[in-house]
Amino acid sequence: MPAGAVITGWGSALPDNVVTNADLEARLDTTDEWIVTRSGIRERRIGGSVSALATEAGRRALERAGVSPAQVELLVLATCTPDLAVPATSAAVHHALGLSGGAFDVNAACSGFVYALVAAYGAVSAGAARRVLLIGADCVSLLTDPDDRATAVLFADGAGAVVLEADDDDDGLLAVDLGVDGSAHDLLTCAHGGTMVMEGKEVFRRAVRVTVESATKALDRAELAPGDIALFVPHQANLRIIEAAANRLGIPMDRVAVVVDRTGNTSSASVPLALAAAADAGRLGPGDLVLMTGFGAGMAWASAVVRWAVDTTPGPGSGPRGASGASEP
Ligand code: COA
Repeated sequence: MPAGAVITGWGSALPDNVVTNADLEARLDTTDEWIVTRSGIRERRIGGSVSALATEAGRRALERAGVSPAQVELLVLATCTPDLAVPATSAAVHHALGLSGGAFDVNAACSGFVYALVAAYGAVSAGAARRVLLIGADCVSLLTDPDDRATAVLFADGAGAVVLEADDDDDGLLAVDLGVDGSAHDLLTCAHGGTMVMEGKEVFRRAVRVTVESATKALDRAELAPGDIALFVPHQANLRIIEAAANRLGIPMDRVAVVVDRTGNTSSASVPLALAAAADAGRLGPGDLVLMTGFGAGMAWASAVVRWAVDTTPGPGSGPRGASGASEP
């Protein structure tokens, strides 16, 4: 019988370099007021490389799960800003962490982590791996023109990771929705060696609609209502998009994970960064239903409903389920 899988660890990594709106105000024709009002972003982190950030986030997720690198049988890295065109950045991360098994990259831009999550669950179900390290990492600042106020204020760098472990008694993944409208692929592009070009208003309009539609489809497939969701983890592009989507879904903001104010839009990293922050804050408990929705360049989207399995309450006795037996080979 194919195994289900549950998330047993999480971690994140951000560059040390904090760039505030005041820093941007000093060198661009923009204001803190414009950026906060239009996007909700107050600061972001810029620097590092995808492989370094992904390695750090991955290391923290493995520690949290109590899983050793040698026990990992598959690494899936979601990124649209790989260190090199070839080879996949997952190869460097696999080596840096000393993992076992295979590794591959996924590029679905800002929905990449949720696509990678679905691929990881699929790999467990297929019997390809019992422990998967799943990372979303991007240095989007490498794609933006630092002098272009339309994009430089929005995008930034970071990484988030989770460990997925086979669990024969728990499906873990309840439902998914994947989609892409390739007819709109030219709304957000970056040519090789070029910088990012975006039709912001149209992307905004689609983002809200697509997030709501995709989240609703995933909920319907899981035979759940928005009120059943303990935590909604949307792509962190813009606080206005998040608030509009949550409002239309009928999910109150106290059940929404938000980090965009301090991270900016980190593309593939945004959903796992928001998930890890919520878990670190003890906002999730065993049995909680988590809805994740990504959208972005493509225009691609992806939603997943998962059942959370571990206690995140800080303090003695907390920790991943099965941590005591996690060192078994
Ligand atoms: N500071 C000040 N003014 C800025 C600016 C900045 N950083 N960036 C753009 N502007 C100007 C524009 O030049 C334009 O000026 P104009 O009207 O004279 O031409 C004006 O602000 C645009 O304002 P408006 O259209 O009201 O902005 P908006 O409310 O649509 O917000 C975005 C702009 C980009 C923040 C918004 O459209 C957005 O978030 N879109 C989605 C982007 C996104 O999430 N992309 C990633 C998807 S994964």
